[in-house]
Amino acid sequence: MTQNLNPRPTAAPTDLPYSVTAMSVADAIATRRSIRAFTDQPVTFEAIARVMEQARLAPSGCNFQPWEATILTGAPLQALRERLLASEPDEPQEYDFSAPGRIDKYKSRLTTFAASMYAASGIQRDDSEKRSAWLKKNVRAFDAPVLLLCHFPKMMESAQWSDVGMWLQTIMLSARGEGLDTCPLEVLGMYGRTIKAHLGLSGDTLLFCGLAIGWRDADAAVNQFERERVALRDNLTFRGF
Ligand SMILES: Cc1cc2nc3c(=O)[nH]c(=O)nc-3n(C[C@H](O)[C@H](O)[C@H](O)COP(=O)(O)O)c2cc1C
Repeated sequence: MTQNLNPRPTAAPTDLPYSVTAMSVADAIATRRSIRAFTDQPVTFEAIARVMEQARLAPSGCNFQPWEATILTGAPLQALRERLLASEPDEPQEYDFSAPGRIDKYKSRLTTFAASMYAASGIQRDDSEKRSAWLKKNVRAFDAPVLLLCHFPKMMESAQWSDVGMWLQTIMLSARGEGLDTCPLEVLGMYGRTIKAHLGLSGDTLLFCGLAIGWRDADAAVNQFERERVALRDNLTFRGF
C-alpha cells in the first residue's frame, strides 16, 4: 500500500498534527549514536510519519528541499536485502565517500573508529571471514525493521548534498524523540545502481545512502563502544573572545 506521507504540504510549520514528544534537543543529540544491532520490534507507519513530518522543517539553501527518499519495511525491505546480497558492488561507484581516508589525519580517525567497532563486535583485525560477514550485515542495514533510502537528482551540487545531510540529521534527532534509533549507511552507495534498478528510480537519480531505523538492542556491545571526537580547538578558530 502506498501511504500518503505528506497530506498537508502547505501546513504552517508550527501546525503539527500531533503532540511533540518531551525529549529535549540536548538529550536527543546526546543519546543519538549509530546503532548497529536492533530488536525485532516493528516500527509503526505513524511513528515514521511523525519523524518525516518534523524533518520537513529542516533548512535548505534557497529552500530547495532537494532530498527524496524511499522508505521500506516488511516484505519490500526483505526483497531489497535479498537482491543486494545476490549483487556485486557497483564498479565504478557513483560517488566516492572514502577519499579523505587518503590523508593521514582522517585516516587515523577512521582507523580508531573501526578498531573500536570491530573490537566491540568481537572481530579481529585479520579475520577476513568475520569482516566480510560484518560487511554483509552492514549491507543488510543491520537487520533494522525500517530502511530509508536517500536519493536526489544527480544534478544537485555539494550545497544540496549538505542540505540533505541536515535533513538526515533532523530525521535522526527526531527519531530519538520517538525512542527510535538510526544508523546512516553510505555502504549502500556502493550498490547505487542495483538499488535504483530495484526501486525503479531513474538513472538521473543519485543514491546517496541508507538510514536504518528501529529500536536499539541496548545489550549489544556494538551499540556501546566509546566514540572519539576531536577537541574543539582542532576544528575551530575563535577570535575576539
Ligand atoms: C553519511 C554517513 C554515512 C555512514 N555510513 C555508515 C555505514 O555505511 N556503515 C556504518 O556502520 N556506519 C556508517 N556511518 C556511521 C558513522 O560511522 C558514525 O556516524 C561515526 O562513526 C560516529 O559515530 P556515531 O554516529 O555513533 O556518533 C555513517 C555516518 C554518516 C553520517
